[in-house]
Amino acid sequence: MTETPATPAHPWPHVFEPGDPGTPVLLLLHGTGGSEHDLLPLAPRLSPGAGILSPRGPVSENGMNRWFRRLREGVFDTADVVARAGELAGFLGWAREAYGLGDRPVAAVGFSNGANIALATALLHPGELDRVVAFSGMYPLDAHPVDTDLAGTRVALFNGAEDPMAPQDSVERLTAVLQSHGADVERATHPGGHGITADDVTAAALWIGRAGVVR
Ligand code: MLT
Repeated sequence: MTETPATPAHPWPHVFEPGDPGTPVLLLLHGTGGSEHDLLPLAPRLSPGAGILSPRGPVSENGMNRWFRRLREGVFDTADVVARAGELAGFLGWAREAYGLGDRPVAAVGFSNGANIALATALLHPGELDRVVAFSGMYPLDAHPVDTDLAGTRVALFNGAEDPMAPQDSVERLTAVLQSHGADVERATHPGGHGITADDVTAAALWIGRAGVVR
């Protein structure tokens, strides 16, 4: 695998491709143990010609890249989730400036742990991130209060009906919290467990097409 060097201006190694004018930028967020290269093959299927911003999770769990610490599977260190969501919002703000993204729409596309940090960031920092495609995500904030206005935020959730890592009751809570704060939520549930299906990708591409143009 090609190692992506840290840029001089930001310590997080990441891939950036500007994409075609008039397209959104996809913020690709890998799952546990992944890297900034993992979701790159999905990008042309989700939004042909789109810009790509794909960082590497800054937390290491026994050598596996992640976006925040967890106490065990499915039990998160919520204070760390909150802090790391702030870091991701900061990275996005930096990238907007450094890469001259202007007011181009940015849609996060996250898988598993990457979905969870995208959701936490959108819940806590809607001014930085207001479009999220979450594959196999769940509610990431436990008892941490959410006091943001999410009117204008749009989230697409894709989950497995029998996913022990992202249980349905957590997805229900996620949907309820997002909607109660004004977010528009679309939700699709596929048979089976943790993972991204071909139908999920097709539906996500349609959603990005809509969400990318409506601001
Ligand atoms: C998480 O830790 O975010 C979830 O349990 C999913 C994962 O293991 O990546």
